[in-house]
This record gives sequence, C-alpha cells and structure tokens, in this order.
Amino acid sequence: MEFAHLVTVRVAKCQPIPDCQTRKPGVTIALAAPMPAPDTSIVILAAGKGTRMRSDLAKVLHRAGGRTLIEHVVRACQPLKSAQILVVVGHQADSVAAVAESLGAQTILQQPQRGTGHAVQIARRAIRKSATLALVLPGDAPLLRTETLAALLDTHRRGEAAATILSAELPDPAGYGRIVRDAEGRVQAIVEDKALAPEQRDIREVNSSIYCFTLEKLWPCLAALRPDNVHRELYLTDAIAMLRQRNERVLAQIAADPNEIIGCNTRAHLADADRVFRARKAALLMDSGVSIYLPETVMIDPDVIVGPDTMIEPGVQLLGQTRVGAGCSIGGSSVLIDMRVDDGAKIFPHCHLVSSRIGPHAQVGPFARLRPGSDIRAGAHVGTFVEMKKTTLHEGAKAPHLSYLGDATIGAETNIGAGTITCNYDGFGKYETKIGSRVFIGSDTALVAPVRVGDGAYVAAGSVITDNVPADALAIARGRQANKPGWARAKRRELAAAKHPKKSSKRKVTRPASRSKPAHRRKSKSRRR
Ligand code: UD1
Ligand code: CA
Repeated sequence: MEFAHLVTVRVAKCQPIPDCQTRKPGVTIALAAPMPAPDTSIVILAAGKGTRMRSDLAKVLHRAGGRTLIEHVVRACQPLKSAQILVVVGHQADSVAAVAESLGAQTILQQPQRGTGHAVQIARRAIRKSATLALVLPGDAPLLRTETLAALLDTHRRGEAAATILSAELPDPAGYGRIVRDAEGRVQAIVEDKALAPEQRDIREVNSSIYCFTLEKLWPCLAALRPDNVHRELYLTDAIAMLRQRNERVLAQIAADPNEIIGCNTRAHLADADRVFRARKAALLMDSGVSIYLPETVMIDPDVIVGPDTMIEPGVQLLGQTRVGAGCSIGGSSVLIDMRVDDGAKIFPHCHLVSSRIGPHAQVGPFARLRPGSDIRAGAHVGTFVEMKKTTLHEGAKAPHLSYLGDATIGAETNIGAGTITCNYDGFGKYETKIGSRVFIGSDTALVAPVRVGDGAYVAAGSVITDNVPADALAIARGRQANKPGWARAKRRELAAAKHPKKSSKRKVTRPASRSKPAHRRKSKSRRR
C-alpha cells in the first residue's frame, strides 16, 4: 500500500497538544504520509479465547470482510514500518501464530491469559530494546486504518504524552470502556462498562483499546496493576488512571470514523464489521466506474479487481482473487470465487463459478456451475443448468442447456445438445473426452470417456458413444425404434374389460387399425429410427 497522498484526521476534543491547543474539536488537519517508526514497537493482543463468540475457533481467526480479524489488524500496521509487529498469542496459539507469522509478524505466548494488562507484561520480554514507544492494539478491531494509527502516533509524539488513547463517540456505547474526563476535559481514567457509576453511564466516548504508550512511563504502571475487577484480570485500562495519578499526560484522540474502532466480541459485532468492509469495497469500486445495484447486498472481497463499466446486480458475491474485466455484467445472486472474467463477458443470474476463466464476450448462465479448471473461451456460451469441470470450451462453442462436461476439450464452434453428459469416471479413475471443432452433438448423448469425436462430425441424439468418432462422420448409437400401431388403445381396452367385465362387453368393438393415422401422415419405417 502506498501513502504518498495526504490523509486527514480529526483533532481530539480539547487536547492540550502544544501546537494545536487552539484548534476546536472536530477540525480536520492534513497529515503527511506515515513516517517510518523505527522507535516504535507494535503490540497486538490476540491471546484471548473470545468467549462471547461462542465458538470453537479463537476469536481473532473469525472472518469479516474476507479476511481473518488478525490479518486485517496486522495488515493495517505494516505500512507504518515500525521496529517490529509483535502478536501476543495464547488461545489456539499455533493457528493464530501461523497467520501472524505468514505476514511477517513476530509472536509471543501468553499462557495463561490473565487480562490485557498481563498480555502487555508478557510482550515486554520480546519488545525491542531500541523501542521507546509502543502502539498497542487488540486483535479484534479489524476496521482500523493505517492513516488513523499514523495520526495517533503523531498526536502522541507532538503532545509528548505518556499515553494517547484512540477513542470514539458512539451512539450506543454499551459494552465498551468509557473515557472519563475532568471538568477541563483532561482524561482521568478508563472505566470498564461493568464498573460504571450511574452518572458515568451516559458517557458516549469509548475506549477503542488502541493506544500509544511511552514505554518508560508505562512499565512502572503495568507492574503495579492489580486484578481488582469482576474477572480477576489485570486490565491495561487501569494503567491510564495510574499514569494520571503520577501526573503524566494522557491524551485521547477521537476517531473521525467511529466504525474504525468496532471490536468484534460477538457474532453481531462480526456482522457489523463485515458490513462496513463490504460497503467500503463497494464504494471504492463505484468510484472507479463500476455500477453496483443495491450495493448493501453484494459481498466483494478485498483483493477483487473489477474493470470500469461492469454492472453488478444485487446479491452477487465476488470472492478470493477474482478479477473481472471492463464492460461485463454479473447477474444477481451469482457467486464467483477466484475467477477470471475477461472484458465484455456476460454472466446471467444464479451462477456458481470457481477457479475458472471466462473469455471476452463469452456468456454463462443462468444457473451454471463452473468447477475449477474450466476455460470458456471468447464468445463461447454456457447455458442453463450446465456443470463443467476441467473443461475447455473453445471459441464460439456452445453448451446451452442441461449438461455435465468434465475433463473435456470442446473445439471451436461446436454445439453440445441439451442433456449431453461426459461419463468421465468409472468408479476408479477420471478419463478425458476430446471433441473437435464444428461438431454437432445431438441431445441426450452420453460420451463414455476416454473418447474422441473428430472435427465436423455429427452424433445423433440419444447416443451412447463408447468408440471414437472419425472426423465428418455421423455416429448413431441407440436402439432402433419400432412403432406398433394401435397397441396402446388395445391395451387400455383390455385393462378396462378386466376391471368392469359387464359394461365393456356391451360396447361395440372397433379394431385398433381403423383409427390409425391417415395414410398420407404415416411416416415410412425406414425414415426414422
Ligand atoms: C477491551 C477494553 C475496553 C475497550 C474494548 C474495545 C480492557 C480491560 N477493556 O474490552 O475498555 O472498550 O476492549 O474493544 O482492556 N487479550 C489477550 N490476553 C488476555 C486478554 C485479552 O491477548 O489475557 C486480547 C484479546 O484476544 C483481544 C484484546 O486483548 O484481542 C481485547 O480483549 P477483549 O476481551 O476483547 O476486551 P474487551 O472486553 O473487548
Ligand atoms: Ca474486544
């Protein structure tokens, strides 16, 4: 990510920052791109179980906006170029560490987990000796932006503070620790939700759990923490009141966008965070020239790229590494995972498309399924209720209805009739079907692989093809048709007579042949098989 541009932040309420004391709350200032921060260690607290999630999975491994929570947090920290990114792991430590380390972070084990204050005590052992500042973040606040972290660090440095808290004003602050200020607006303490006095319940400014600390000021307070709370834990939040008791300067900077501080303790928070991520991504794409109808219903992962003048209908999911070109349309409720869709392609509603390619101006759906390894070339057409796997449909070829095509190559301009099946599996192995170009496969053909059909050949409808078909040949592989005139009528009478013997015996008997088709409408036996 590049940060060559300027970013804007809101200045905190009434903060005694030397060079911005005269600014009013809410004023925006321009900040340069984040400076490298080699004096700063970043500590991400990710050891907790996340009991309120009611899950077997550690909280920070839950996903929102297409990534795990911990991945979002580490990625937001990376551009700051700090001395280190240190992740405190504990619950499901190996799995959490695997994600963090794959992103270049270091990890340290907190076992057992005795609270956020205890987590930072543990981190101390691994914090670089050269670091004088620490940015401390929870692993469950995935919406935080790099710009906001950089602004927090900047406020802390310029304010020469011992601690700077990122706070936010929430319409519903329930569940969060509150920022308690004195009459002059100076931060006094953070009080956890469960410990609030009645008169503190109305405070809407909350603690995000994102802080910058001057380490030499923090360490003595951390050592003095006591588990005087309902959970018998060491709370990092208690260090704030201790710093103030020692007459240290504590600032709180209000986040311009309160969404950024959402901490995901519950499934409902996770859904809230996911919604914000999806809205951010949709807004970015719309800014770049993509039409999205009912954007609140689409789910687009962060790495997805979409070209201009592409139209996305409601309920679409574009996931993983999907790349969609320009001038495409993606029909409602279609799901694309790791797909490549070239310019001008049209996907009709209700398709499920995975790890495949759709070439320029090709058409797919509605109700099509592409399993991995399918390659729909330029101008080709995959229609309704067609499933493909590891199959190439060359330029201009068509499979318009009701087919399964697996492990197959289908040449240019070939037509695959409705109901065609490649029988690619014999219970042990998978086999290939190769169909040349300009071939006509009649409806309801079963192609028993391995088998080849040469260029320009015809396969008659209803055939079961077990042998190769030479180029330009007609293959017919089905039972011969025999018509027995009047047979059905005679059968019905026979059955009726058996059911009501008296009634039917009175009726006049007519011969089956007497009501058969007039001679001019009868087809000769040899014409149709
Ligand atoms: C915390 C803050 C609260 C704030 C809220 C913001 C405390 C006591 N409270 O509450 O003021 O409003 O975040 O979202 O800090 N963790 C460890 N080791 C532990 C305990 C926790 O690494 O022993 C990690 C968790 O994995 C989590 C983070 O610390 O990522 C925060 O812990 P959590 O239990 O979510 O704190 P909250 O109750 O949300
Ligand atoms: Ca939390």
